[in-house]
Amino acid sequence: MLKGKTVVLGVCGGIAAYKAVEVVSRLVKCGAAVHVIMTAAAAQFVTPLTFREISGQPVYTTMWEEPKLWNVEHIALARRADLFVIAPATANMIGKIANGIADDFLSTTVMATTAPVLIVPAMNTEMYLSAATQTNLKILADRGFHLMKPESGPLACGTAGIGRLPEPAAIVGQVAAHFAIAKSLQGVRLLVTAGGTREAIDPVRYIGNRSSGKMGYAIAAVAAERGAEVTLISGPVALAAPSGVTRISVESALEMRDAVLAAFPTVDIVIKAAAVADYRPEVVADQKIKKQSASMTIDLIKNPDILAELGSSKSGQFLVGFAAETQELAKNATEKLCRKNLDMLVANDVTQAGAGFESETNIVKVFYQDGFSEQLPQMSKRELAAVLLDRVQQQRSKIDRN
Ligand code: CTP
Repeated sequence: MLKGKTVVLGVCGGIAAYKAVEVVSRLVKCGAAVHVIMTAAAAQFVTPLTFREISGQPVYTTMWEEPKLWNVEHIALARRADLFVIAPATANMIGKIANGIADDFLSTTVMATTAPVLIVPAMNTEMYLSAATQTNLKILADRGFHLMKPESGPLACGTAGIGRLPEPAAIVGQVAAHFAIAKSLQGVRLLVTAGGTREAIDPVRYIGNRSSGKMGYAIAAVAAERGAEVTLISGPVALAAPSGVTRISVESALEMRDAVLAAFPTVDIVIKAAAVADYRPEVVADQKIKKQSASMTIDLIKNPDILAELGSSKSGQFLVGFAAETQELAKNATEKLCRKNLDMLVANDVTQAGAGFESETNIVKVFYQDGFSEQLPQMSKRELAAVLLDRVQQQRSKIDRN
């Protein structure tokens, strides 16, 4: 996995900096080219010479050195990286990256890279759990940075708790896992729907729902990072299109249906995370409806079930549906999976705290065509997106084998 890969390792000033030496040693033994950047504080704990000897490469500690090569070194390193790792990452460096501060070689290079970045924090428990660090880590997770959780145990400050740098073997394992999945969807065409639809009542009013689009957007982003060609058909949401994704914006269920049916024959996987309105007003008023009597009635007619249409006409596409339930989750999910001819169904009980619409996290149970189901723990929508894509990939390779 690591042969021929270029890893840039940023080392910050913490006692765990000595463990980064073993990280470099293991990466080099696995065939990676490792370029080390140290902060000034890191150089107080371990000498640059140690990293230079272990990596066999020059070590970068300051912006102001005589250049070793005739190019802008931090930009050259930022471009050369297949993966950027920061281990140990201090609260200070995490804060700088999250807030766009670039005042030393490491923070400048991280800002200039388009490579994926893995951040491995290590610090005192209270610093790690502080609102500032947790907010900064969340900002980074939302921006697509990969985070590794510190371990619990005795700390250099004499206390015990969460904050220890994971063992070098675990960090290298995470790096290898990254390269294993990095391009695992290369050549695969994926269609994702996201957000809620708006069903017009008159020129100024509509019937909508609470879908934020976050789940579908997270799936689109992670799939693109894994190399898939992603088309995102989205209802109106307040989110930017993830990089590398083609977004088609729609409003109503009927517009979403047209866009989905047009793309369907050319894709391999469809993930329908959108919250499509089941009904729409039968008549859309041309002019704004004026208030008159004490009550009013709007007649609604059923929208086509896009997912069911795909299920009845699929020819080799892997079809994933979502189900938002408030009761009898397993029964309803199994029935939906079967009725809509799906390969996988992701069901959540939207009455649970930390699940469903507008929430930052989700708690879902995944149902498979072969009758199995799997309860997943509460996790961020981005983490869940990665797990769901893992499952889609596993299921598709099972189908290929049979
Ligand atoms: N869906 C769709 N077209 C619709 C309604 C829903 O494609 N008109 C899709 C959604 O994108 C989602 C799945 O169907 O993937 C489940 O939506 P949900 O509203 O939970 O289920 P319904 O089938 O509409 O059933 P019910 O509302 O009775 O629970």
